[in-house]
Amino acid sequence: MTTTTDTAAAPLVALTDVSKSYGNVRALRDVSLEVHAGEITCVLGDNGAGKSTLIKIISGLHPHDSGSYAVAGEQVRHASPRDALDRGIATVYQDLAVVPLMPVWRNFFLGSEPTKGRGPLRRLDVATMRGTTRAALLRMGIDLRDVDQPIGTLSGGERQCVAIARAVHFGARVLVLDEPTAALGVKQSGMVLKYVAAARDAGLGVVLITHNPHHAFLVGDRFVLLKRGTMSGSHFKEDITLDELTREMAGGSELDELTHELSRAPAAGAPAAGDTPAADLPAQDPPAATDPETRA
Ligand SMILES: Nc1ncnc2c1ncn2[C@@H]1O[C@H](COP(=O)(O)OP(=O)(O)O)[C@@H](O)[C@H]1O
Ligand SMILES: [Mg+2]
Repeated sequence: MTTTTDTAAAPLVALTDVSKSYGNVRALRDVSLEVHAGEITCVLGDNGAGKSTLIKIISGLHPHDSGSYAVAGEQVRHASPRDALDRGIATVYQDLAVVPLMPVWRNFFLGSEPTKGRGPLRRLDVATMRGTTRAALLRMGIDLRDVDQPIGTLSGGERQCVAIARAVHFGARVLVLDEPTAALGVKQSGMVLKYVAAARDAGLGVVLITHNPHHAFLVGDRFVLLKRGTMSGSHFKEDITLDELTREMAGGSELDELTHELSRAPAAGAPAAGDTPAADLPAQDPPAATDPETRA
């Protein structure tokens, strides 16, 4: 097939009605998404929604059963992650494949080490690797005191950042991140999101998987919501608010039902679940004064 279409306008990645089953488990059904250069596409969904399956298809780990997958306008069927990588699609998995005791620079070049000399004199070009790693991290705004420290001494967030800088350095056009903030606290999540945004600003198309609508909304341009393998929503940033996204993510009407089930008649002297906090109550009966359990 000759594809001489206008590839400049074609999305970097386009999935159209993609489905995937594991045996008789239908993990994905008719899911579509687009990834564009300089944009972040967020995929949101609960556990078991099919997020990782989607990533595995994009990154070439699993083939899709039906639907279409195009990279820059060209239909593809990746046979392996190497195939996807050759097309510029780099994936950062949650459990990063790093060698904890090896220095940061060594991990940065793992599998792509430059060498110098020939024949029996061929050896790793350590100086180049050190210098390049430091420069590549700095270019992303990551100022690591010491690229010689074992990568295992970095925080989870810093390791994600190194992985992102690595993908950018090795020329990725699409960066796929599987729940990079899932195991992180607020501060480290913020740091990782900053570098996700830096990758976007460097012109990459980013796929950010998360189950945190706040994180998604901070950086996302497009949002795809998955629910039990199907697409329950697809929105542009302009068309949705954080509240709507959070609600959709939490399961809308299911949440209303739960709110109803969990609400109970107020016990004497105690505020009912869902009531306004004490500070916002009219002055006449401060509950903190009567109920020892609500005292700070
Ligand atoms: N290798 C597999 N074999 C069989 N079932 C799988 C496999 N991987 C995932 N599944 C099933 O597919 C569905 C989607 O899983 P997954 O893509 O991991 O969801 P998520 O990443 O959103 O939690 C789940 O029901 C899961 O049990
Ligand atoms: Mg998953």
